[in-house]
Amino acid sequence: MLKHIPSTPGKFKMEKSPYILNKSRWHWHSSIMKLTFWSFIFLGLIFIFFFRSPSSNPIPQDPSRRSLRTHNWGGPAWEKRVRSSARIRSRNGISVLVTGAAGFVGTHVSTALKRRGDGVLGLDNFNDYYDPSLKRARQALLDRTGVFVVEGDINDSTLLKKLFEVVPFTHVMHLAAQAGVRYAMENPSSYVHSNIAGLVSLLEACKSANPQPAIVWASSSSVYGLNSKVPFSEKDRTDQPASLYAATKKAGEEIAHTYNHIYGLSLTALRFFTVYGPWGRPDMAYFFFTRDILKGKTISIFEAANHGTVARDFTYIDDIVKGCLAALDTAEKSTGSGGKKKGPAQFRVYNLGNTSPVPVSDLVSILERLLKVDAKRNVMKLPQNGDVRFTHANISLAQRELGYKPSTDLQTGTKKFVRWYLSYYSGGNKAAG
Ligand SMILES: NC(=O)c1ccc[n+]([C@@H]2O[C@H](COP(=O)([O-])OP(=O)(O)OC[C@H]3O[C@@H](n4cnc5c(N)ncnc54)[C@H](O)[C@@H]3O)[C@@H](O)[C@H]2O)c1
Repeated sequence: MLKHIPSTPGKFKMEKSPYILNKSRWHWHSSIMKLTFWSFIFLGLIFIFFFRSPSSNPIPQDPSRRSLRTHNWGGPAWEKRVRSSARIRSRNGISVLVTGAAGFVGTHVSTALKRRGDGVLGLDNFNDYYDPSLKRARQALLDRTGVFVVEGDINDSTLLKKLFEVVPFTHVMHLAAQAGVRYAMENPSSYVHSNIAGLVSLLEACKSANPQPAIVWASSSSVYGLNSKVPFSEKDRTDQPASLYAATKKAGEEIAHTYNHIYGLSLTALRFFTVYGPWGRPDMAYFFFTRDILKGKTISIFEAANHGTVARDFTYIDDIVKGCLAALDTAEKSTGSGGKKKGPAQFRVYNLGNTSPVPVSDLVSILERLLKVDAKRNVMKLPQNGDVRFTHANISLAQRELGYKPSTDLQTGTKKFVRWYLSYYSGGNKAAG
């Protein structure tokens, strides 16, 4: 080979040796094969990464996302059910899309609306943040009252568009959300998914609907965060949240304002204060205290620094339902159409509480009397991971403008809850946890 190297570099023209040609072709072939092989391996890995089964997934899955993937809606029979459920059956009735209908508050509000002759369609993704069998039992209850709950996610804009095509809803009662303050440290993205992205997706559908519905939605007393001035008034600052949950509710209030301002959507936020009652949420203290006291398990009761009391403005579900219905009935129409604002629209924020905070230790004493079992109490320091020391609502605005007047005290409401709890869980349903 050395003899072929020219004395003048650059002038050398290599002979077309058949041996050399075959070798380079062989190299070329082998490179292509290698490339193909590694491409398959790479694609395979991508496939496994995205489509592996949830059980083999080491990253905790966002439950609401899981529900987004599976949908089984559509078709003439489905549309007929949707129309029938949303049909108004009383004079001056309204037609309401209730999101989070299989949830605690959603079930009660949907039932109350249906009973007075309004059209009601539910929407819920049945995520497993807490025992989904309780949500299914609520769904069965709603079914018996004539409320159809569509299984789907508020982030599914195709589904929302379809629902507004099938039914010209006059109102939306938006209750779907990721609730709970402590769970935010375990699964923060579920709060962003439902409380922020989901809210925007819903408001987008509402703004484009023709007619645009009026929207009443659940914010939370948690927006008052670390405020120490009591009782909490709607005029107070809400810029020091103590949990991601609170921050997403506060963000929701700002997002709602934007849609009101730009698109003329009528928007009312209701700041609920610790709602309790039959068909309640198993992640809330009154619920799991009941379960644990009955099981003989020790319950943790929090106290603030220097033995300070931790208290909540517990509000009975029937009072909250009355507040929700009053907000729907007094909501003015949205002013926009086809995504365009035609004039200023109503924008409201109300506290819905009970105005009489009760120390959590008193709630435990009430439960002990009703269950006839002594609780094993473990008094602990309030952790700094989301819970606030106390909540106390000033409800004068809701009183004045909605005629809201809570009438159930904690003793009476807890009695109704315990009666439901005992009958529900003695009927073969198992208390999870
Ligand atoms: N219960 C209270 O004490 C309280 C206090 C303040 C505010 N709130 C608010 O009131 C509303 C109702 O609360 P609740 O106690 O009935 O809670 P809940 O968890 O029982 O109900 C919420 C329902 O929404 C559904 N959901 C969640 N994300 C969804 C999504 N992306 N798409 C479709 N459905 C979804 C859930 O499956 C659930 O059934 C929530 O917005 C909550 O933040 C409740």
